[in-house]
Amino acid sequence: MGEESARAEADPLSGRGGRRTITQMVVVGLIASVLGIALGLIIDWFPTQGSKQAEKIDTFWDVLIICSVPFFVLVTTVVLFSVKTFRMRPGEEHLDGPPIHGNTRLEVVWTAVPAIMLVALCSYAYITLHDIEKAPAASLGPERQITVNGQQFTWTFDYDEGGKKFSSAQLYVPIGRSVKFNVKTKDVLHDFWVPAWRMKIDAVPGITTDYRITPTRAGTWPVVCAELCGLGHAFMRQTAHVVPQADFDKWVTKMTTRTAAPAPAAGGGAAVDAKALFTQGETTSGATACGACHKLADAGTAGGVGPDLDQALKGKDAAFIKQSIVDPNAVIAKGFNANIMPDNYAKLLSADEIDALVKYLGEVAGK
Ligand code: CUA
Repeated sequence: MGEESARAEADPLSGRGGRRTITQMVVVGLIASVLGIALGLIIDWFPTQGSKQAEKIDTFWDVLIICSVPFFVLVTTVVLFSVKTFRMRPGEEHLDGPPIHGNTRLEVVWTAVPAIMLVALCSYAYITLHDIEKAPAASLGPERQITVNGQQFTWTFDYDEGGKKFSSAQLYVPIGRSVKFNVKTKDVLHDFWVPAWRMKIDAVPGITTDYRITPTRAGTWPVVCAELCGLGHAFMRQTAHVVPQADFDKWVTKMTTRTAAPAPAAGGGAAVDAKALFTQGETTSGATACGACHKLADAGTAGGVGPDLDQALKGKDAAFIKQSIVDPNAVIAKGFNANIMPDNYAKLLSADEIDALVKYLGEVAGK
């Protein structure tokens, strides 16, 4: 037996049997790739697509699936076939494989192909990123800017609509118009995320970060905090309302007239139903109801997140009650921690509403 034929016998991939193994590998690999890509494209990976940016990001995801599945399949198929083809057979326990000194052509191929792939995908990613961050054409008029304030554990959205400024705990945006969010935080790191829009950015102490989206689908979508920010992180969720322009304008009018309403001449705040405000919250601005967290016998609420107001406010004067609403960290009731109650009520409620609440609580708490 010559040296050549001995080597051929030791190499299971040479000869007719070897060609069959390679054909099998290619067929199995092709079928697995097609199935894998089909599965990857059929699976509904993401929530509803609610913005122009979301469409581009989801397309990018699909391209990544189409490119990466065949490579995953290629590597897995070669590994599995190698384990089967080159496995140790009885009597081979003490044999070593043939010495291999590398294969230049193979190494050039497996370096060049992934490198080209990587450069192509990076270029596509860069173009997509540039696209979704692009400001809208100047001909469309000025872009709406909304300041997003994160704090433990709530979001407040500051609007400036034609010089009229107001704040809301609910996010309203008109459909089809680009909006830029300037994201800030009053305390620790948060992350402003509306999954339906796909965009997401950290709120970092000391700086303003931003991103823009153009909502394409009307509806209500969750606003989520995506950065672990403390005990209430999981509850730092609010609602984004995407509405037709006419409804948005109506909401803005409601918000601005509410804030600017002149105090009634006599008995300040008489127009506000303080008990309803206490139990239901401010629905226009989205301020959470006091009763959701506080117990108060007169209102029939049983919340236990904050102090029992019948005890905490008993015998207190109006100044203390007002301070407890607008600056809740000034005095912390025994047994509770600071920063549990958001300190944005002065922004979310009108002066009339706060006065009415103070008056109401002074009359009923602890009685
Ligand atoms: Cu704010 Cu998590």
